[in-house]
Amino acid sequence: MPKCTVNGIEVEVKDGATVIEAFMKTNESIAHYCWHPGLSVAGVCRMCMVEIEGNPRLQIACNTPVQDGMVVYNNSEKVKEAVEWTLKFHLINHPLDCPICDQAGECGLQEYYMSHGSYDSEMAERKVKKHKVVDLGEKVVLDTERCILCSRCVRFTDEVTKTNELGIFNRGDRSEIGTFENRPLNNKYSLNTVDICPVGALTSKDFRFRQRVWFLKSFETICQGCSAGCNVQAYYNENGFYRVKPVPNEEVNGHWMCDEGRDVYKFANKEHRLVSGIKKEDSGLSHMAPGAAAVQLREDLSDTKKAALVLTGQYTTEEYLKFVDSFTKNYGNEVYHWINNPKTFDDFDGILLRGDKNPNTVGLLRVLEGKGIKSSWADLEEKLNSGQIEHLVVAGPENLAVFPDLEEKVTLFGQAQKLTVLTPVKSKFYESADYQIPMKSFMEKDGTFVNHKGIEQKLGRGPIVVSQALTLLDLSMILDGSDFISVNSASMGGSL
Ligand code: SF4
Ligand code: SF4
Ligand code: FES
Repeated sequence: MPKCTVNGIEVEVKDGATVIEAFMKTNESIAHYCWHPGLSVAGVCRMCMVEIEGNPRLQIACNTPVQDGMVVYNNSEKVKEAVEWTLKFHLINHPLDCPICDQAGECGLQEYYMSHGSYDSEMAERKVKKHKVVDLGEKVVLDTERCILCSRCVRFTDEVTKTNELGIFNRGDRSEIGTFENRPLNNKYSLNTVDICPVGALTSKDFRFRQRVWFLKSFETICQGCSAGCNVQAYYNENGFYRVKPVPNEEVNGHWMCDEGRDVYKFANKEHRLVSGIKKEDSGLSHMAPGAAAVQLREDLSDTKKAALVLTGQYTTEEYLKFVDSFTKNYGNEVYHWINNPKTFDDFDGILLRGDKNPNTVGLLRVLEGKGIKSSWADLEEKLNSGQIEHLVVAGPENLAVFPDLEEKVTLFGQAQKLTVLTPVKSKFYESADYQIPMKSFMEKDGTFVNHKGIEQKLGRGPIVVSQALTLLDLSMILDGSDFISVNSASMGGSL
């Protein structure tokens, strides 16, 4: 493996690595717009200038392979001046949009202006006007004046999705990003172009103008949208969750996530959540604290001989282990796995998206196998149809959008003499249940999801959205006879 020296720091890189990758292995900063670790090298922005000992001319770091013994630096006056001039060039036609630009606060132009620019403009000419608010597709808006033509977005649709919707049109300072006729940017990964756009040219319709980024806090967790288990950063403030963005993980999601996964923050927000325990009484629905509803459920279940449990793949492995244990102690192996979309369960789109729209099916199956449970859905249907189940407890999904069979299944479950639904979200289909107990969403708890490859990944815990909502761990403690103490009640991120 070749070694080189970067600003005086010796670094070893893999064969074929470029100088910018050597910089990335140190803490030395290097300005760059067009280079992205998940895309091919374009070498168009000219920001990553370096001096190489023995070479009289400056070179771009992103397209220069490291050679053993190379001595490189980017902290000389010569490099600093070159980068400043390049930045001036990028800003010639850039509008003064920062106060109304969604990228403000996380913009490559703002950041490098502060570190490499900070000059008075010498431009006397009028700026070239280009198109603003160009509707590129279902989810993305383009402001061509802000674009620095780094070509990251074009390379993304060429190399990652291979859908080629984007191109650079016209020449010189009239060049603009755009879509081909009748070919909007509507692929399933389109919002990654917003993430990789180093400036505010591409913005997300969902996030646009909703929140300034400096008012948001964030934490890392795992996407709940399917069994791929993409690593994500979730952003929130006291009003709720606002967006999720991918976190690179070579083994799991590379640098990307799908557009479906961008919506997983929505059902975790309060407006979709079940916030109190509900018990059906002769007089109507009675609302109470979640723990109080769980205690009443315990009393109800203590008179029951034939109970059964239905689990979705939407809870953590730790929850399954404890809850299945508590349940089977009293009612035997009457535990069933609800597969929401059996026909498309094994689908794969060739990039990330999996047909199994549950984050932890593998974790659930491992727990069931470990406990020797081999139940079949047909068995459950037969027992329900013949009235053999007195009380059915269902740990329902939180992402209802991927459970198209929800109404049909709840109707089937309703054949039990009593029905309890444990759920983070409210649904009109649950209104006939005898108990509805609010559960924490994946954003509010610790635990492990096991993805389709069998990789175990830990959730990060964000703020509490529904105070006193339970986890399956809490519920098993209550069913086992303990007073309610939420094992997840303390939150790293406080509460909303
Ligand atoms: S829109 Fe953004 S990502 Fe695309 S070329 Fe312009 S600056 Fe680069
Ligand atoms: S591929 Fe699956 S896990 Fe990844 S972002 Fe999309 S929905 Fe989430
Ligand atoms: S990052 Fe090297 S030329 Fe753009």
